[in-house]
Amino acid sequence: MSYRITLLPGDGIGPEVTEATLTVLEATGISFVWVRHDELGTAALEKFGTPLPDHILDSIRETKVALKAPVTTPVGKGFRSVNVQLRQKLDLYANVRPCKSLPGIQTPFDDVDLIIFRENTEGLYSGMETYDEKHDIADSIARISRSGSERIVRFCFEYAETHNYELITAVHKANILKLTSGMFLDIAHEISASYPSLTFNDRIIDNMCMQLVTRPQDYRCIVTTNLFGDILSDLAAGLVGGLGVVAGANIGDEYAVFEAVHGSAPDIAGRDIANPTALIRTAEMMLRHLGENAAADAVYDGLVDVYTEGKYLTADMGGSIRTMEFADRLADRVRIHLS
Ligand code: NAI
Ligand code: MG
Repeated sequence: MSYRITLLPGDGIGPEVTEATLTVLEATGISFVWVRHDELGTAALEKFGTPLPDHILDSIRETKVALKAPVTTPVGKGFRSVNVQLRQKLDLYANVRPCKSLPGIQTPFDDVDLIIFRENTEGLYSGMETYDEKHDIADSIARISRSGSERIVRFCFEYAETHNYELITAVHKANILKLTSGMFLDIAHEISASYPSLTFNDRIIDNMCMQLVTRPQDYRCIVTTNLFGDILSDLAAGLVGGLGVVAGANIGDEYAVFEAVHGSAPDIAGRDIANPTALIRTAEMMLRHLGENAAADAVYDGLVDVYTEGKYLTADMGGSIRTMEFADRLADRVRIHLS
């Protein structure tokens, strides 16, 4: 049996961390048929005249699952983020970003175990922006819908119940954004009533940032709207070793696109120094989604070995090992765990 998966290596450090991840996946012995599309974003715009060509969306609709590396979005001008568009077009409404301390990685806290559930299709990322040239005024619409809020909150509670997480925190700014954030918070309260065995609380976003950098152990599942979730997940990544080590998944009712939290890191692209751990842990999440738990455990155990040994670390972790060398060392450990 083999899995047909859409593979999107992206740009920047994307192709490098993708090669490293494929090396580790190969070591699991699981058979994959990769439906690979190298051009997305700028490269697709040049080749096909559009940054997100239909054949890529069709490929994901066919394989149902994709493994995706980061894609650069021009800042302040140019095309809309293909990452955001892909999530919206495939209705991947739940962005799940676990930030859990990995044994061996030195951080200020050694017992962080957070999962951020970020609404992934609306909020300030709905793409509704207008510019009034006469008055030089720009508006961005933060659309929040009842249905969109209900499904992400329910997804979070269901996940918490299945995975034995007892605490859920809704993050909002309902004191100021009374209609949008206020509705999201009301819905979170309503849904929490159907899960009496889980503890529910809420925090205002600014306070939440302070709480997370001082007492991250007090939190488990965080459910929030799009922009707050984007920001909190980079913050939470910083608590457990940085963007080089945290995984993510975009999940909808029909499709799943596995994608690390980090971006294309143009500052280190093309130098074979990026940390591939984030995409490797993303692939570990994909393996669990496919029901390949033994392989996923071997990848996790291999990572714990490599980090605990502390000899083969990439630059972001204070070492000097190359991306592919890290992958080769890890692949050896994965094979040992599976033998
Ligand atoms: P970034 O996440 O690419 O980089 C932030 C910092 O973290 C940089 O110093 C970078 O070198 C470092 N970093 C990130 N991943 C790393 C890794 N695997 N190993 C070692 N260091 C790593 O965020 P930035 O610089 O804000 O965005 C760069 C580009 O990526 C932008 O065009 C942005 O739109 C895009 N982006 C794409 C995403 C996606 O495809 N899902 C997500 C986030 C940003
Ligand atoms: Mg982000």
